[in-house]
Amino acid sequence: MSNLPIKAVIPAAGLGTRFLPATKAMPKEMLPVVDKPAIQYVVEEAVKAGIDDVLVIIGRRKNSISDHFDSVPELEAQLELKGDATKLAQVMAPSELADIHFVRQGDPKGLGHAVLRAKSHVGDHSFAVMLGDDLIDAKEDLLSRMIDQHTKRGASVVALMEVPPEHIHLYGVAQIEPTDEDDVVRITGMVEKPSREEAPSNLAVIGRYVLSPDIFPILEHTAPGKGGEIQLTDALEEQARGEGGVYGVVFRGRRFDTGAKLDYIEAIVQLACEREDLGPELRAWLKDFAKTL
Ligand code: G1P
Repeated sequence: MSNLPIKAVIPAAGLGTRFLPATKAMPKEMLPVVDKPAIQYVVEEAVKAGIDDVLVIIGRRKNSISDHFDSVPELEAQLELKGDATKLAQVMAPSELADIHFVRQGDPKGLGHAVLRAKSHVGDHSFAVMLGDDLIDAKEDLLSRMIDQHTKRGASVVALMEVPPEHIHLYGVAQIEPTDEDDVVRITGMVEKPSREEAPSNLAVIGRYVLSPDIFPILEHTAPGKGGEIQLTDALEEQARGEGGVYGVVFRGRRFDTGAKLDYIEAIVQLACEREDLGPELRAWLKDFAKTL
């Protein structure tokens, strides 16, 4: 098993029911966060961690995702003619980010099933799984830390985050024991979307994974679990009980769940406030607006 260079896998075949009606005809991964679709942030995060090969698992009605990462010669020519270098760079950026591939999931049978669709592209190599709903602050180095831990320990690594009890049922939750490193834990068990009472800890899996390829044979025999879907969490539970184990990196930085409406709005406001072109005016407006609340 070789570790680097690793490829990234972005499952994007889900139906996006949490964001209806916006996602009725449009993939949720294409919802703009300020002025870029959510999925572009995820690809940029992969590139920042040194990954240059990205596989996106898509489903029906998801063609706008592949269009976004393609070049648009007629638009590029027009912007060039106008001499608008800024917009030209913005249009060209997604198609120049990385080597992006697509595979179809057909019948979406869960996250574990989606990850299994990456098998022939990834082969016998480690790979990162990045869920498009989770937006990690670009200033953070979470994925690089996970890749380092994966290389060091030769085992799958998941990102964990402390969440309040009222949100725990939305996540895969880890049972853990400490290691000799701060914020690195060994996973002894995992439960997909437990009730508050069943949750083995307050550490939820957020959508970043660095997986060893031996997850594939496990996924091949993983039976449908929670919600009748083939769950990646269940396969990781089995891997955690095996020889190599599974580790968790505890993330304490800023993360938005852009699949949830309130988090999505907060992400846009915070990220726009930090932008040089939009921030000053938006912050001033927000201060005035807050007075009216
Ligand atoms: C998926 C996983 C879950 C994980 C979550 C992170 O759930 O199944 O284990 O905690 O992503 O965002 P989903 O949010 O797709 O229902």
